[in-house]
Amino acid sequence: MDALKRQAAARALEHVTDGMRLGLGTGSTARHFVDLLGEKVAGGLRVIGVPTSEVTRAQAEACGIPLTTLDEIDHLDLTVDGADECDHALNLIKGGGGALLREKIVAAASDRMIVIADDSKWVDALGRFPLPVEVIPFGLAATQRAIARAFAQNGVSGQMGVRKGKDGHVFVTDGGHWIVDAHLGRIGDAPRLAEALSLIPGVVEHGLFIGLARTVVLAGADGIRVIERR
Ligand code: 5RP
Repeated sequence: MDALKRQAAARALEHVTDGMRLGLGTGSTARHFVDLLGEKVAGGLRVIGVPTSEVTRAQAEACGIPLTTLDEIDHLDLTVDGADECDHALNLIKGGGGALLREKIVAAASDRMIVIADDSKWVDALGRFPLPVEVIPFGLAATQRAIARAFAQNGVSGQMGVRKGKDGHVFVTDGGHWIVDAHLGRIGDAPRLAEALSLIPGVVEHGLFIGLARTVVLAGADGIRVIERR
């Protein structure tokens, strides 16, 4: 699986050219991309990156990739990031690594987003992977009730739980927020649910990435498939 992730990352790297401003994703697949990009930078490629998490920032710095922020530049040429699920419309579930907020800000500021993944992430319908919803700790129960209502109005339901870290404590995002993971099974209309979740006070962001990915690079046992959004 790790070899497939690296193959997808290597293929995405072919889209990087000298002078590009890049969004650097988070997760085990994006980690390969940053690693390979670091090798190119060491070889003389000139790029500048905006990391989507503190973990990626630390990795990129260690690899010698020059970094900037979205306050210093007005847009990015390309973001390369992983995903937890991708459907045939190239809508995504992201946030398994807890970086969904910065990942969405960076993707939205990019001319193009390439998703890199092994082919287990390719699904007919989003929702088997628990949907991460980033919330403000204040008023958590009220926010969860509003989320449950939005689910019901969109024909989905399932268990919700506040994400815990490996140490058993509540997982806190880079932005200081919490994540509620919702086990929905199958989301019939992801764009509609995404809009409904965005309207809830207390929801900072959710892991439905609608219309952001332009290209998906999927690595599988039979090779690499590149799928473009129609
Ligand atoms: C982090 C993410 C990751 O891109 C997603 O979880 C996929 O991770 P991996 O490449 O480790 O499977 O959204 O917030």
